[in-house]
Formats: sequence, structure tokens, C-alpha cells
Amino acid sequence: MRRIRIATIAVFMAWALASAMREAGTTTDSGMVSAANAAAPVAQTPAATPPATSTPPPPMPMQTSAYVDTFAAERDSMMNAVLKEIAGHESTAAESVFKNIKLLKGMPAGRVLRIMNMGWGKGLGVRCAHCHDTKKWDSDDKPQKQITRDMSAMTQTINNEMLPKIKNLRSEKPGVNCTTCHRGSIKPAQNL
Ligand code: HEC
Ligand code: HEC
Repeated sequence: MRRIRIATIAVFMAWALASAMREAGTTTDSGMVSAANAAAPVAQTPAATPPATSTPPPPMPMQTSAYVDTFAAERDSMMNAVLKEIAGHESTAAESVFKNIKLLKGMPAGRVLRIMNMGWGKGLGVRCAHCHDTKKWDSDDKPQKQITRDMSAMTQTINNEMLPKIKNLRSEKPGVNCTTCHRGSIKPAQNL
């Protein structure tokens, strides 16, 4: 019961966050999950707003730990800098705007940047520099960049070939994405 309730709340909060960002005209894009197995928005605990005089209440016994996306602000500002450089071409296919697009061909350039930031960066809890030489975005010198392309292919194989063969699952279209495994860290956990 409790798990179901937490899941419902998490889904609602992810939705609310996405709506808020859409309203603010910032970073979300509903196409990104299916398009590139990008990480689904991770639910955030809303900032508590207690009356000014009261001390914050003690944590509840079985509170789920909230994910802190440490590098969010840095990634946003780097993404915005690139968005500025490509101004007017956000809707053009990425391979016509950027130099070294192998995976996300055909996707609008602006959306590619959002996947990088909100999907991959957030999903793994990393800065842009984890995968990039940030002075030379097209460079493949960092192995994490090619690993990411391979991880995306793996995710697609799981979603398109393996999961559909498993009978009696609960979802009509069961799927995994970067967040399913990574959950905000570079190395997925192997035990609880
Ligand atoms: C988890 C790894 C990862 C992270 C984090 C990441 N990127 Fe990328 N980035 C890639 C991959 C992989 C590609 C190539 C995509 C392809 O082959 O279609 C790429 C391509 C790019 C390109 C196109 C470069 C060119 O000319 O070909 C830009 C620009 C870019 N990223 C910017 C960013 C920014 C800005 C951030 C941080 C907000 C970021 N990336 C975070 C993996 C990452
Ligand atoms: C089925 C689970 C799974 C999924 C889904 C998955 N990964 Fe991974 N990922 C792993 C495992 C396991 C490793 C290897 C960790 C290790 O080095 O032991 C890894 C490693 C990586 C690394 C290397 C990190 C480093 O610096 O060492 C990157 C980058 C990465 N994944 C990106 C992604 C991205 C982006 C996605 C979504 C497109 C994704 N992964 C989806 C399981 C997964």
C-alpha cells in the first residue's frame, strides 16, 4: 500500500515539476524518453516552507531519500551557452547543427541538448564534463561519450527486443531507461 502511495506521489511530483518547467519555458521535452531512453524526471522533494519561526520537523521514520542533482545549475548554464550559440537552429536536425552526431540523428538540436542535460546528466548525476571535453563538444576523447551511445543501444535492445518477449508483465509497454539502472550515480548498485 505504502509503496503504491509513494509511487503515486512521485509520479505526481515529476509531472508537477515538468509542468512548472514547461511554463517557465525551460528544460523539458516529452519526446525525450522514447527518443533516446533518456532518464525520466526524478521526483524531487519540494522545498519545505515552514513558518519563519518554527524549526523544521524531524525526518519521518521511513522517509525515502531525495535525489540531489548536484550539478544541475552548472549543466543548465552550459546548455544555455550552447543554445545561445545555435540560436535560430534549435529545431534543425542535430547532425546539421553539430559536427559528430551518430546516435541522435534526425532529432532537433535543442532537444538533443535537453536529453544530454535532463536525461543523461541528471540520470547519472554528472556534469557535462563527465562525457565531454567542454572546450570541444564534438570530440570523442572521453570514453564515456561512446559508452553512452552503447548504453543507449543496450537500452533499446532491452526495450524493443527483450521485454516484449516476457509474458504477464504489468505494463502494456514495460520499459527501462538510464535512471532505472543509474538512479543518479555512475555505477549502478548491485545490492540494497
Ligand atoms: C552521459 C554522457 C553525456 C553528458 C553528461 C553530456 N553529453 Fe553531450 N554528448 C554525449 C554524446 C554521446 C554525444 C553524441 C551524440 C550522438 O552521437 O548523436 C554528445 C554530443 C554533444 C554535442 C554535439 C557536439 C558536436 O558538435 O557533435 C554537444 C554540443 C553537447 N553534447 C553538449 C553537452 C552539454 C552542454 C552537456 C551538459 C548539459 C552535455 N553535452 C552532457 C554525451 C553526453
Ligand atoms: C540495465 C542497466 C543499465 C541501463 C538501462 C543503463 N546503464 Fe549505463 N551502466 C550500467 C552498468 C552496469 C555500467 C557499468 C558500471 C561499471 O563500470 O561497473 C554502466 C556504465 C555507464 C557509463 C560509464 C560511467 C563511468 O564513467 O564509468 C555511462 C556513461 C553510462 N552507463 C551511461 C548510460 C546512459 C546514458 C544510459 C541511458 C541511455 C544508461 N547508461 C543506461 C547499467 C545500465
